[in-house]
Amino acid sequence: MVCPVPILAAGSVLRVFEPDSPQARAIFHLGEICTVILAAIFVIVAGLIVFSLMRFRWREGAPDPEQVAGNKRIEIIWTAIPAVIVVMLFVLTARAMMVADPAPPPKPDLIVIGHQWWWEFRYPNGVVAVNELHIPVGKALALRLDSADVLHEFWVPELTRKMTAVPNHPNHIWLEADKPGTYLGICSEFCGTQHAWMHFLVIAEPQADFDAWTRAQLQPAAAPQGEAAKGLALFEQLSCSSCHAIKGTPDHARVAPDLTHIASRRELGACIVENTPENLRRWLENPQKIKPGVLMPNFKLTNEQVNELVAYFETLK
Ligand code: CUA
Repeated sequence: MVCPVPILAAGSVLRVFEPDSPQARAIFHLGEICTVILAAIFVIVAGLIVFSLMRFRWREGAPDPEQVAGNKRIEIIWTAIPAVIVVMLFVLTARAMMVADPAPPPKPDLIVIGHQWWWEFRYPNGVVAVNELHIPVGKALALRLDSADVLHEFWVPELTRKMTAVPNHPNHIWLEADKPGTYLGICSEFCGTQHAWMHFLVIAEPQADFDAWTRAQLQPAAAPQGEAAKGLALFEQLSCSSCHAIKGTPDHARVAPDLTHIASRRELGACIVENTPENLRRWLENPQKIKPGVLMPNFKLTNEQVNELVAYFETLK
């Protein structure tokens, strides 16, 4: 098994303490304030306990300390202080929620579908992206989360909060990035054998780059020549198309990742390896070796078949 580190190095790692969007910052700051308040409470309470243990410990012949049960003044103070703290935390939380989690619009900007073990991103203009979510910088997008099978959880710690993808029960979340960059996202709820390899990349780019990417993704697959044309014929013959869609070819199954622009992607298998011809070849030779348990079986392709398919897929920019 090849180490996935190159992708993480080239792309990103999870940076929980470095929020890069208004939503993530609101949550992070709330976390900071709560940590400070709770730490102060801990120090005060633990300090008083330790002080009492030392100061009032039992000693031979010493008189009992003064009893204060029923003291009105003390009871008012120790009811009022926690009440003020709770109200303060409530106000701060409500304020953070207004920034991080306002009500979603009736129509989402993007539909996210969790699958065992990859992510599908459907844009209203017809673009279908897989494991690589492109977004324009500085724009809050309303995402609708769906699942095709079991519970998954969408999480990009630098950009937004966690949200569960539940089959037949859409959930909503806002996603935004302050600056261009590649952010790593993960599935953060156990969803089966390859849960740990259900990563995705969020690629935030300036509007012009995002538009260019969108235009390229909207193109149907290019008509292949030579060896690549043989690859396309194989793709249809071998029933690859009963799971994978390639726009511009017959049959549009959506069970497995859309391959129309597979060559434009950085990774394969939900970030388990970099998308290089060599890795694509290894994947086709036996996907189970790279990602044990993946729903794509080993088709036991011949060397020639693998060559033709790789030649074809490399044309799908
Ligand atoms: Cu999907 Cu864990």
